[in-house]
Amino acid sequence: MCGIIGCVGHGDGTLDVILDGLETLEYRGYDSAGVALAGDGLDVRKKEGRLEVLRDQIEADGERPSGEVGIGHTRWSTHGPPTDANAHPHTDEAGRVAVVHNGIIENYQTLRDELEADGVDFSSDTDTEVVPHLLGAFLDAGMEVEEAFRRTLDRIEGSFAIAAVVAGEDRILGARNDSPLVLGVGEEGRYYLASDVPAFLEQTRDVVYLDDGETAIIDADGWRVTDRDGEPVEKEVSTVTWSAEQTGKSGYDHYMLKEIHEQPTALRQGLSGRLDELSGRVTVEELDDVGTPETVHFVACGTSYHAALYGVELFREAGVPAQAFLASEYATGPAPVPEDGLVVGVTQSGETADTLSALREAEGRGAETLALTNVVGSTAARECDHALYIRSGPEIGVAATKTFSSQLTALNLLVESLANGSPGTRELIAALRDLPGDIQQVLDETDAEAVVDEYADRESFFFIGRGPSFPVALEGALKFKEITYEHAEGFAAGELKHGPLALVTRETPVFAVVTGDDERARKTIGNVKEVEARDAPVVAVTDGQSDVERYADHVLEIPETHPRTAPMLANVQLQLVAYHMADRLGRAIDKPRNLAKSVTVE
Ligand code: F6R
Repeated sequence: MCGIIGCVGHGDGTLDVILDGLETLEYRGYDSAGVALAGDGLDVRKKEGRLEVLRDQIEADGERPSGEVGIGHTRWSTHGPPTDANAHPHTDEAGRVAVVHNGIIENYQTLRDELEADGVDFSSDTDTEVVPHLLGAFLDAGMEVEEAFRRTLDRIEGSFAIAAVVAGEDRILGARNDSPLVLGVGEEGRYYLASDVPAFLEQTRDVVYLDDGETAIIDADGWRVTDRDGEPVEKEVSTVTWSAEQTGKSGYDHYMLKEIHEQPTALRQGLSGRLDELSGRVTVEELDDVGTPETVHFVACGTSYHAALYGVELFREAGVPAQAFLASEYATGPAPVPEDGLVVGVTQSGETADTLSALREAEGRGAETLALTNVVGSTAARECDHALYIRSGPEIGVAATKTFSSQLTALNLLVESLANGSPGTRELIAALRDLPGDIQQVLDETDAEAVVDEYADRESFFFIGRGPSFPVALEGALKFKEITYEHAEGFAAGELKHGPLALVTRETPVFAVVTGDDERARKTIGNVKEVEARDAPVVAVTDGQSDVERYADHVLEIPETHPRTAPMLANVQLQLVAYHMADRLGRAIDKPRNLAKSVTVE
């Protein structure tokens, strides 16, 4: 995800505080960076690439930007590729206003059309650029800065954390909605705004956490928080006590846990602007020129392959024949390429060698290809005919967590857009809208640690599920084995009795994903009874609709939801089980042995 820092009160040191702050946010991943300093005028410098490139450019320019107040940004592309022009800060045409933004402005196209009709020239592909133009227009209309900022916020919809500076003004204005923004209270008239505390932790540990709908104003005289009407809001100053080692992880012990907890935000980003509840339709801009395929083939590896299996289930339900292939097998065997079909490469990094080979193989045989990926401008995104971005934000932990959830969410969007208007879309849209909140509930109420306490001494674990919960069982086992180093296997529940049941004993806990109360659930409960009869401990991951709890030793509960979103909630419980088990066993959770985040060899 992108990073924001802003500071007042550092005089000549403003630029260094901003660049150092951005450096502490580097771990989040980014593809371009920029700064804007405001004094009498405005000085904006921005570059595609690493922060080093920006630093070198500033040195090469000769004159360092100066100003009493400044903002900086590291960008992770969502609208438009990583280029100098798309890097933040963005300005109005007069170069009076500079803005940095995290999140997605859902109504940017409408606003852009409106502004262009008024003669405004845009210089980037970003959604963000509408903000400085709006703010500039309100200032031109004679409005006072804070009023103009509030009026701008009234016009924009979506998720955002924003910081803005105006030439000739010694203050920074900030606002948040569904994207984090924190205020730092330093000494001697020094104040900060940032997307993450680590950005200003060198300067102060005193922090004000802003809430959605709040606006913050910092200047050399102090800090204020108001609501959207400009009415003052009383806020508490808290003191951060994290160790330096924990700062990049925002206080979490591991990136993996942080990323598990980022899932509600990641999914909000992935859904932003793509669900239209009024019309009951899914609208994904990137898919405008993709027709309904006759057949769909997925190619993917590891966790992304599990996402692909879930995608197969969705396409088949929508009446489109679909199949998932392990990319490493697809590329080396006689690859079946469907006529009039679509080949979808599911790859969070967009750089996995096996998946790229499979996609190239399909492309070479004339198939239409689509990359479902997290990385704008990645090889898969560039080489495929189409790209659908999951917008999860960068993932640092080797074990994929939030990107898997974002992939499943994006697959729902893919299927609904290609088979739009299918009966049941409205219910699905409502469930997707509620999904971030439902995941938050799972995170807040999970009993995963209690389950781990009970079974920490076991050496073999099984995971079972059916239908869309089968890939979640496979993923539960993969996550578990890759970070705990204990033996774990996932099975289609009905397959147990065809072999694996021989391994089931009182020593082997079985995690059963049972959601809903349909025939699939009843059959899975039948399989649960089979393992119970062999004295195996059963952990049911369930929404409580069936009577599976009767046969379970432990229950990991999830809220009741749509049949397609239920497996996604179950998956979060299984992520937490894997994480807490690995933590208890003292494993290298963020960097499991022998594994790499991006596998660029075949
Ligand atoms: C497991 C994991 C891997 C990746 C696989 C594909 O936690 O992360 O199994 O899913 O290496 O990676 P991408 O999605 O980048 O193609």
